[in-house]
Amino acid sequence: MMKKCSLVILLMAAGTFVFFGSVRMGHTQTDKEGYAGAEKCAMCHGDLVKSWKTTRHAKALASLKKKSQDTLPACVKCHVTGFEKDGGFVDQELTPELAGVQCEACHGPAAGHASNPMNKKNLIANPGEATCRACHTVGQDPKFDYSVKKKLVHGENQKGDKQ
Ligand code: HEC
Ligand code: HEC
Ligand code: HEC
Ligand code: HEC
Repeated sequence: MMKKCSLVILLMAAGTFVFFGSVRMGHTQTDKEGYAGAEKCAMCHGDLVKSWKTTRHAKALASLKKKSQDTLPACVKCHVTGFEKDGGFVDQELTPELAGVQCEACHGPAAGHASNPMNKKNLIANPGEATCRACHTVGQDPKFDYSVKKKLVHGENQKGDKQ
């Protein structure tokens, strides 16, 4: 009986520690949150950014401009980075750095990682088919084949450079 009691107390104490511990972490957390924009990735992933710029993703908002539909939210949402997400694309005046389908549209908001490379908290290292399907819906892109198309996302540079 005694043993069971002290176990409960021990568990409660541990719970309290974890609770307050994580609150404290939240307060002392200095890493940035949200989206950084591809130019911020270029410092360390220079070759990847350069070759991504040759892809249609990089020009996705430009192709809406050509049709004069670059301010229509119903179109913009799939042609930019982080539309209607915390710290994501708002409009071309406020967030020009998030135009087009950038790194973070697939890898998740990476401002934290860009300011501290060892921070991979929100980073999606290997974006799966579901990530693409948010935009390459069956209606929008009926012939989308993940295994083929994923080889094209970085342009010619597929290995990447990290330093
Ligand atoms: C200050 C340098 C630096 C910046 C800026 C930076 N990265 Fe990185 N990134 C790294 C390093 C170093 C690694 C390798 C870390 C490792 O292997 O532990 C990495 C790894 C990655 C990976 C692979 C993660 C994995 O687990 O394999 C992705 C994806 C990535 N970065 C995306 C981005 C994106 C997107 C941006 C811009 C928003 C960015 N990085 C900005 C240094 C940086
Ligand atoms: C935020 C929306 C969005 C996400 C997420 C997204 N795409 Fe795209 N993708 C687009 C848009 C928009 C275009 C067309 C850009 C243009 O031409 O203006 C496109 C074009 C492409 C193209 C070039 C056209 C083609 O069909 O060959 C490839 C390849 C591609 N996407 C692959 C992928 C893959 C693979 C993923 C997931 C790993 C992915 N995309 C995730 C929106 C997205
Ligand atoms: C659900 C996400 C989504 C929405 C919403 C969306 N697009 Fe796209 N768009 C894509 C994807 C994915 C591609 C690339 C695959 C393809 O070519 O269909 C693309 C490609 C394009 C292209 C380049 C390909 C071409 O046909 O020349 C244009 C232009 C375009 N979209 C315009 C628009 C306009 C205008 C709207 C609003 C009426 C819109 N899109 C809404 C996802 C979307
Ligand atoms: C359309 C989605 C998409 C975009 C845009 C995109 N990536 Fe990726 N990225 C992927 C996928 C999918 C993989 C996993 C590829 C694989 O395993 O074959 C990947 C892998 C990576 C890796 C790990 C590669 C390695 O060799 O370890 C890094 C680093 C990376 N991406 C950085 C970036 C950066 C930086 C950008 C912007 C310049 C970017 N990605 C743009 C989908 C994307």
